[in-house]
Amino acid sequence: MMDEREAQVDREYLSRLFGLAGKTVIVTGAAGQLGGQYVRAFLSAGASVTGFDLNPGSPRGNLAGIASDRFLAWPVDITARESLEKGLAETVRRFGDPTVLVNNAAIDAPPDADDSVTGPFETYPESAWDKMMAVNVKGMFLCCQVIGGYMAVHGGGSIINISSIYGLLSPDQRIYEYREKPFFKPAAYSVSKAGVLNLTRYLATYWAAQGVRVNTLTLAGVFNHQDPRFLEGYTKKVPLGRMAAADEYNGAVLFLASPASAYMTGANLVVDGGFSAW
Ligand SMILES: NC(=O)c1ccc[n+]([C@@H]2O[C@H](COP(=O)([O-])OP(=O)(O)OC[C@H]3O[C@@H](n4cnc5c(N)ncnc54)[C@H](O)[C@@H]3O)[C@@H](O)[C@H]2O)c1
Repeated sequence: MMDEREAQVDREYLSRLFGLAGKTVIVTGAAGQLGGQYVRAFLSAGASVTGFDLNPGSPRGNLAGIASDRFLAWPVDITARESLEKGLAETVRRFGDPTVLVNNAAIDAPPDADDSVTGPFETYPESAWDKMMAVNVKGMFLCCQVIGGYMAVHGGGSIINISSIYGLLSPDQRIYEYREKPFFKPAAYSVSKAGVLNLTRYLATYWAAQGVRVNTLTLAGVFNHQDPRFLEGYTKKVPLGRMAAADEYNGAVLFLASPASAYMTGANLVVDGGFSAW
């Protein structure tokens, strides 16, 4: 049996491996379903966190109720450089240099999305394509440029770019057939999330010498009270037989942010309940 002294040594080892106490973290899309989870996970790990979002202070949002002097909710539009620069400057002023960036903000077309952006490929509006690319690709590019660029000249850090199984695989449009009006998961989402994979590889090599690690975290669908007919079709495709709970990606995010992943850059960590194994 492990004695008290050995247990103490183990705790120190674990805290060196996964420790984020005293670190400064920026999470984009912080007011969304998953962003709010990441913010809470980083606060629990002892880090200071700035949550960027369009309207992060909304009283009904996912950040409501967080009372910590290590947390700052800051309004940022990730498609606007000046807005990002102000958010970075405020983060540095409040908490010091950021060493972790979670590029989580994105727009999607979920099963209950408006018909105008979920029609057939042939008539998918150019404006919807442009909007998805502006946030999911250009927005992530700007976050990397502004915040990653800062890390590259201030001691390095870890960037976690969030992708989706639909950036690896085509959506199976048959799981949306229950909808009365035809629904197609748009190509724009898949293309934008595939773009994340190579932005990650590009920057991992570009910034390796400056100590900025860049990895993709690829996620599958999260339970959010979807239509039971969608849930049935979707979960049949998941070896683990269910959607993810909203907090089930926190461990992977903390791992990629912490020294435990120090030898990992340019990689794609897939956490999908086995979706991509079939
Ligand atoms: N939820 C899922 O099932 C799922 C599955 C796979 C991947 N993902 C990915 O995880 C990430 C988070 O997903 P989610 O379900 O929490 O989404 P969400 O819609 O709940 O949250 C996204 C957040 O991004 C913010 N945002 C949008 N445009 C912005 C902009 N221009 N500037 C700043 N913030 C902006 C929104 O206001 C929102 O709070 C996304 O990258 C998504 O593609 C989610």
